[in-house]
Amino acid sequence: MRDFDELIKRMTLKEKLAEITQLYGDEYTEDDSTFMGIDYRFEANREMVDNVGSILGVSGAALIKEAQKKHLETSKHKIPLLFMHDIIHGFKTIFPSPLAMSCTWQPELVKESAEIAAKESAVSGIHLTFSPMCDLARDARWGRVVETSGEDPFLNSMFAKAYVEGYQGTDVSEQYRVASCLKHFAAYGMAEAGRDYNTTDVSEYELREKHFPGYRAAVDAGAKMVMTSFNALNGVPSSGNKWLFQDVLRKEWGFRGTVISDCTAIVEMIYHGFAQDEAEAAKKAIDAGVDIEMVSNTYYNSAERLIKQGRLSEDQIDLSVKRVLELKEELGLFDNPFKDADEEAEKKYILCREHRDAARKIARESMVLLKNDGVLPVKKNTEKKQKIFLTGPYADSRQMLDSWSAYGEEKDCLTLREVLSDEMEISCIPGIGILDYEKEQVENAVKAAEDSDIILLALGEEPLMSGESNSRMDIGLPGYQQQFAERIFAVGKPVIVILYNGRPLAIPEIALKANAVLEAWFPGTEGNHAVCDILTGAYAPSGRLTMSFPWAVGQCPIYYNCYSTGRPSKNVYISERFSSRYIDGQSVPLYPFGYGLTYTTFEYGEVILSDTVMRRNGSIMAQCSLKNTGDRAGTETVQLYLKDISGSRVRPVRMLKDFRRITLKPGETCQAVFRIDEEMLKFHTLDKGFAAETGKFKIYIAENASTGTCAEFELV
Ligand code: GLC
Repeated sequence: MRDFDELIKRMTLKEKLAEITQLYGDEYTEDDSTFMGIDYRFEANREMVDNVGSILGVSGAALIKEAQKKHLETSKHKIPLLFMHDIIHGFKTIFPSPLAMSCTWQPELVKESAEIAAKESAVSGIHLTFSPMCDLARDARWGRVVETSGEDPFLNSMFAKAYVEGYQGTDVSEQYRVASCLKHFAAYGMAEAGRDYNTTDVSEYELREKHFPGYRAAVDAGAKMVMTSFNALNGVPSSGNKWLFQDVLRKEWGFRGTVISDCTAIVEMIYHGFAQDEAEAAKKAIDAGVDIEMVSNTYYNSAERLIKQGRLSEDQIDLSVKRVLELKEELGLFDNPFKDADEEAEKKYILCREHRDAARKIARESMVLLKNDGVLPVKKNTEKKQKIFLTGPYADSRQMLDSWSAYGEEKDCLTLREVLSDEMEISCIPGIGILDYEKEQVENAVKAAEDSDIILLALGEEPLMSGESNSRMDIGLPGYQQQFAERIFAVGKPVIVILYNGRPLAIPEIALKANAVLEAWFPGTEGNHAVCDILTGAYAPSGRLTMSFPWAVGQCPIYYNCYSTGRPSKNVYISERFSSRYIDGQSVPLYPFGYGLTYTTFEYGEVILSDTVMRRNGSIMAQCSLKNTGDRAGTETVQLYLKDISGSRVRPVRMLKDFRRITLKPGETCQAVFRIDEEMLKFHTLDKGFAAETGKFKIYIAENASTGTCAEFELV
């Protein structure tokens, strides 16, 4: 690692401030697509542009090589530019949304997708991606649940690690690797009422138990950067939150990398009412340890005055500059400022067959079969030539990409009609749009449905109904889709619903009346090939929900690892009337965390423990038999949950602690075996410790968070 102290001494304050500022790529491209956020734009002067440290949202080998060359010609200190971008689940070969990919319960697939995304990004000149998003998701009204890995800390941590390892490998300077920036620190997903950017109030207990593990896992996996979040956390906006970034991130967790603000989040502290002007916003951000200011210029405009007033020290600026220079050094940019940018490699790797095949495989594994009365799989060539009718707004749509799909293009996606037509004889009349409908089209579709044997009904949300700033107060099917579905159900033929959506939807009527429901999410470039693979039975679905589906939006936020309350419904002492419930609906989810079906069935045996007593530093084994009781091979995700019966703080009704994906042939039986040790029992106790407290625990081995056989043991 070069010693940058000498270089920093030679830099003027303005040159240093430019080095820790990030600009949009206005200088290099007309493409304004990455501009987002508040309408805060500023004219960067020549000196700032010539000395800026990093650029947001530009890609393309030729363009970036030219930009880097030009920059180094004008840069007095020959400091290379760092190009950063939002490559969240693919660069141009787009994988399913992160929420979808988390339903694979296979971190190795997420790692594979990140490696491919890194390769396509690196040959296009990108050095760092603003991923993984480690925010925990609990409220389906919040549009950004689509970018998360769901509601469980254990899974969130596994996926965060997998993304970082996939992007960075063991050395970010290696070919086809990019640096990873975890985000948004912290608890952004707890936006009150599910409304994006809204305030969050989260106890330190909840933060440490549920929210921090995902971020921590990314830090421990070696992520090079951390991004602040937009929200105020317990009254302090993250970008000015010294406790979060100095005490927790750097002192407790030992993070030595670089912190970047989210887009204009520093100047937004004025709107939060946390800074009276840009100078105070800059001071609070620098004091909190935010090294790079993303696309606002409070540092550049105010730091000099703050230093003169004694409100900041230049050492603080030097420390941030040094972190940025060291990141560029880790990426090898001082030796090779163009890194992997290569036009020939772009042509060879971007959207290549191998990447498309991986996208199709991962899309298949991310889909969740929510209901099936046996109507699926649809037999392709049946003796009596079934008439299959495809309808709904997603019947012939290319909108397979969610709102954060980088350079993915819908033109590269096939529609469900196109894909199915290659496999079987179908007729297709969409009948309605996502939001609009035209009576004659509806009647034509209903008539065609009446004349069919099986109906495929493809429904969902627009891509821009989830993602950043796209929160919904009603999470049912948008537009007239529910009414249209009722007309189709009324025809009285078997109906298979396929859902394309970014969040859990409240779809009780669909769940009740459809014969089958396949959750496809936004499945990416190869999405409809994957849907077809599952509908035809070429592949059996094996996805499991990582976020609960509510009966109604009124249940939000709803998640499995909640606390019991003193009046849990179905409590032996409390009549249902005086229990924690709704008088007009369910208090449990429509589809629980961990839920998903496949094309066979499984039977679980009783939980057998090696011992009903666990000693300190000891462990016990838990197992149960699993049998494939169907007529097809299938994969079951056997889940291990623990419940701490009582503690110095209330404990979740269940906590996922391990799982096994087990594939069995028809009739085959095996033992699902788990080891439970004291580490699994530890939590943040009332006296601020982190320990396992003696007492009774329940173990569930289950197919989802609301079922399972159980056994008890005691820690002594
Ligand atoms: C956005 C998002 C963040 C993204 C950043 C840069 O506002 O909050 O996730 O990485 O700006 O585009």
